Amino acid sequence: MIRSVVKGSGSALPRRCVSNHELAETVDTSDEWIIERTGIRQRYIADDTETTASLATDAARRALEAAGVEASGVDIIVLATATPDETFPATATKVQAALGIEDCVAFDVAAVCTGFLYAISVADSLLRTGMGKRALVIGAETFSRILDWEDRATCVLFGDGAGAMLLEAEETDGQGILAAKLHAAGQHHDLLYVDGGPSTTQTVGHLRMRGREVFRHAVKNLADVLGETLEAAGLTPAAVDWVVPHQANARILDATAKKLGLDADKVVVTVDRHANTSAASVPLAFDVAVRDGRIQRGDLVLLEAMGGGLTWGAAALRY
Ligand code: ACO
Repeated sequence: MIRSVVKGSGSALPRRCVSNHELAETVDTSDEWIIERTGIRQRYIADDTETTASLATDAARRALEAAGVEASGVDIIVLATATPDETFPATATKVQAALGIEDCVAFDVAAVCTGFLYAISVADSLLRTGMGKRALVIGAETFSRILDWEDRATCVLFGDGAGAMLLEAEETDGQGILAAKLHAAGQHHDLLYVDGGPSTTQTVGHLRMRGREVFRHAVKNLADVLGETLEAAGLTPAAVDWVVPHQANARILDATAKKLGLDADKVVVTVDRHANTSAASVPLAFDVAVRDGRIQRGDLVLLEAMGGGLTWGAAALRY
């Protein structure tokens, strides 16, 4: 059977790390409040020289290196972001140019924090239908640029970064992406959105969120879609080696794992270090756990995310 196998991963963070204490110097908040409600201790914030495309390119280079693949061997680039460098063209094409790839398929996917799950599902479909042999799937964000730094309820939650995976279509007996499930419920737009855009205000806008309601939807939707994905892959929670969740909030991670009866030790947590990096958070956390030796070849890994839209999704893969 032809499946999309993860050949390598990479990630990138901006140079500047901002602790909760540093944030509390300019925002009416405290280290204690942020840690207690979210588990976040610090986040990385892009400077003027760092953009979504530059972070994405750095992450992509590291994924290519880990996979032992030349950039010229990439057929498809799918980049998930809600903070593109420009309204158009797609940031994926800037990454393509930076990597020196003369011709390939390159486009962006917008599903906010669920972006990487949408991107990897689309890339997997393209690979399995023969559109190409290798795909770079990237999640990259500079959310710091769309935050309202006067709104303490949201600005403390997010950070910038990028993560990438190199997928290759291969004849396998069990390795690769086994199942993926995606959802959207546009009727919940007002729970999490940006109050601007080219077609409405001609501005970029700022992130707005009704945190409590998002929390409630997140725990239910994520537990449901994880169960649905495991069922589609013909697996039970006991078969799972690692869950790599979207890193929104430590309390959402704990509550979701509990609901599914998953051991908390199997959940990769990076929200303390990176905060919520939206579409970048899943591949960033995956790369951290591969590089520190937790995720090993042959492990069964579940990816999951929920975000604005509302959108949510999950994927099961054998690494
Ligand atoms: N520092 C100090 N106090 C604050 C801060 C802050 N940064 N932010 C809000 N407060 C205050 C509020 O003003 C309020 O004060 P009041 O009681 O005097 O009115 C109090 O803290 C409680 O505010 P709530 O918004 O009700 O706090 P809550 O307990 O719901 O926690 C949080 C907020 C952390 C955002 C929570 O709702 C949450 O985790 N929601 C999930 C949303 C999320 O993680 N979204 C990320 C994007 S979506 C996604 O990725 C899935």
